[in-house]
Amino acid sequence: MAILVTGGLGFIGSHTVIELLSSGYEVVIADNLSNSEISVLDKLKKLSNKTIAFYEIDVTDKDKLELIFLNHEIDGIIHFAGYKAVGESVVNPLSYYYNNLMSTISLAELASKYDVESFVFSSSATVYGDNVSPFKEDMPLLERTNPYGETKAMSERILSDYSKTEPTKKITLLRYFNPIGAHESGLIGEVPKGIPNNLMPYITQVASGKREKLFIFGNDYDTPDGTGVRDYIHVVDLARGHVAALKKAKQGINIYNLGTGIGVSVLELIHTFIEVNQVDIPYEIVERRPGDIAVSYADTSKAERELGFKTVKTVEDMVRDAWRFEKNLIK
Ligand SMILES: NC(=O)c1ccc[n+]([C@@H]2O[C@H](COP(=O)([O-])OP(=O)(O)OC[C@H]3O[C@@H](n4cnc5c(N)ncnc54)[C@H](O)[C@@H]3O)[C@@H](O)[C@H]2O)c1
Repeated sequence: MAILVTGGLGFIGSHTVIELLSSGYEVVIADNLSNSEISVLDKLKKLSNKTIAFYEIDVTDKDKLELIFLNHEIDGIIHFAGYKAVGESVVNPLSYYYNNLMSTISLAELASKYDVESFVFSSSATVYGDNVSPFKEDMPLLERTNPYGETKAMSERILSDYSKTEPTKKITLLRYFNPIGAHESGLIGEVPKGIPNNLMPYITQVASGKREKLFIFGNDYDTPDGTGVRDYIHVVDLARGHVAALKKAKQGINIYNLGTGIGVSVLELIHTFIEVNQVDIPYEIVERRPGDIAVSYADTSKAERELGFKTVKTVEDMVRDAWRFEKNLIK
């Protein structure tokens, strides 16, 4: 069973490759290295002790992508490749629409042509917009506040329409909440290029002295301590969710939240990081960031019931593993 993992050298993709290999799947990675390093491939080989086929290609290039389907018997696709920085998507909307939509369309066309049984797509909790948490898969989706979120909602729509034309295929849309942490080995993790867009890599870079202090965007939200509340999920748990989705998804369209179901505030996360790792994180409260919502956490009951998926890692595990990885980077 060969699984094509697009974006397999990135943060979530690399952890998923490890889980797939340890579950007995053969893996083929396609990545154009736009937000990852080729050195991750060696780390994946070292961690798994297995061979991994790798193609340095742009997934929007359907002709090059087709080579993979000619060279390998692909039974499933997990599509991580895409741009993910919300702020950047506001500045460069066209490149976000092009990359995130054309990659999905090219892959779906080839999935159809080569009769690929399963297609798992990386969606995001942003598709819920400013709904009331806990977010449930059957809620009406509210307006997105940025082009990135829109590309996720549009890709969901494209794949849902594709599913109607090929109802025997298993199409799964996984709505991730906030993945953080790193592999226990400390070898793979999140390496943002430039200024981190997400909270955890910012925290670890402040802890390591790469950045002077952390900026907290708003402490006047309607939450217990005024800072935003999110559902942080350990990236290894998230990776396991993909294996569960491949194994358990049914024919037709399947939609699942992948989160812990627990809301944690920005301040709580910072203080847990400080306590567990015994490092200081200087921070400053600044204005709210446009487009941020107050509270976002998942209703996890559907993934638990239908995929048998439940997270096992705690917030303490997440902050410990994220810090171990950052310390290895600065060694
Ligand atoms: N990290 C999060 O907070 C989060 C939350 C929800 C959803 N997601 C989605 O999950 C997916 C993976 O996220 P991640 O955090 O691992 O991001 P990442 O940037 O670390 O990984 C994405 C990988 O895809 C590659 N890539 C991008 N465009 C490509 C293209 N056209 N062709 C080939 N490779 C390409 C990059 O080089 C990178 O290795 C993305 O689709 C992202 O939008 C991420």
